[in-house]
Amino acid sequence: MEGNQIKQRENWGSRIGFLMAAAGSAVGLGNIWRFPYTAGENGGGAFVIIYTIFALIIGISIMLAEFTVGRRTSLSAVGAYKSYSKKWTFAGALGVLSAFFIMGFYPVVGGWSLAYVFKSFSGLLANPEAIGTTFEAFMSNPIQPIIWMIIYLALNVIIVAKGISGGIEKAGKVLMPTLFVLLIFISIRSISLPGASAGLEFLFKPDWSKVNGATILAALGQAFFSLSLGMGCMITYGSYLSKSENLPSNATIVTILDTCIAILAGIAIFPGVFAFGLEPTAGPGLVFVVVPSVFAELGGAGVLFSVVFFIAFTVAALTSSVSLLEVVTSYLIDQKNVPRKTGVTSASIIMIATSILSSLSLGVMSGFKIFGAGIFDFLDILTDKIFLAIGGMFIAIFTGWVIKKEDLKEETTNGGKLKFSLFEAWYFLLKYVIPILIFFVALMGIFAIEQ
Ligand code: PHE
Repeated sequence: MEGNQIKQRENWGSRIGFLMAAAGSAVGLGNIWRFPYTAGENGGGAFVIIYTIFALIIGISIMLAEFTVGRRTSLSAVGAYKSYSKKWTFAGALGVLSAFFIMGFYPVVGGWSLAYVFKSFSGLLANPEAIGTTFEAFMSNPIQPIIWMIIYLALNVIIVAKGISGGIEKAGKVLMPTLFVLLIFISIRSISLPGASAGLEFLFKPDWSKVNGATILAALGQAFFSLSLGMGCMITYGSYLSKSENLPSNATIVTILDTCIAILAGIAIFPGVFAFGLEPTAGPGLVFVVVPSVFAELGGAGVLFSVVFFIAFTVAALTSSVSLLEVVTSYLIDQKNVPRKTGVTSASIIMIATSILSSLSLGVMSGFKIFGAGIFDFLDILTDKIFLAIGGMFIAIFTGWVIKKEDLKEETTNGGKLKFSLFEAWYFLLKYVIPILIFFVALMGIFAIEQ
């Protein structure tokens, strides 16, 4: 079969609903938690520039490729690949595996964020000097973060069990705009701190001497992670998309929005890092230390701001992790014919087990290493630096070489109804440039990490 299944499939309720859900999947911990600390660890400005270029060129192209494949086939990742060629099933399976692995650490951070909503209430900000040590102690505690992680995952299960337009879409529609407004607010506050300019300089002034193969791979991996690409998530979301939607414009809007939010998060975080004399290379705790510190200065109002920030942060994380859970669930529904509820439950049981190990690897199990990294870091590095980039390379090769050019043209122009003037450029990028580029970046990066 040529991948143009005619089958009644659940659709997104409205255009804005889809955009919000796709943007909701993209905008998450990747932007607010991961982008700032990865930029910090990779020297700031130069990393930010490389990341932005990757997001705009490779990101938009791959996102459009995923939407196109998803809508063309009306199937989620594995089924979509398989419907063209059985030989390509592995590429879809790799995506499902990536979703499992990401969901092996993402809920841990989601749980931290949820915990911080309550910690903000209960005196976290009262003692600004202790904010850093409080985070360290919390993160490495064997029990507390696990309880929060389980509550966080339970929220995911509830949303995904309700199905596409019922749960995911409604959650995204209300909560994503709230987050955006909040981040702008925090950025303004952060920029007005004394010493803020050093943070802005770190974020925007490139120091090219800090760039090596590892930085470039980190930027590529971060772009894929942040845009939810390279593992079939946007194929799955695209499969619920109505035939009248404009795919190129949706892909462009989501990518630009996601990139703006990452940079906005950087503007919110780095001035604070420098104003409080923290290290930009402090790693995964950055947001959890800087944001409460920024707000601690504001007294009682600060507590309120901190609570609202962590609510919005948790919601951003939720709208992303539900998309990861959806990848696995829709695979089980489409390929294994299980009912939605059974799919969600069985997937999440495995995710709980892995996330418990991840959480413990930051404390009592920190001595247990896989290739020199704890479980949390291992899953993060494996997906972000290897699986997603390779998954992105596969989707580019698949669209460039397996699907017929006329079919791509037909799908991206809605059967000739829309004008897509950059079609040839997009096709060329997918067929030649992106696969080769990803291959070399991955090779260079792995080589640099090895050293
Ligand atoms: N893009 C999400 C974030 O930035 C994470 C994610 C990755 C979601 C891959 C789906 C697929 O947090």
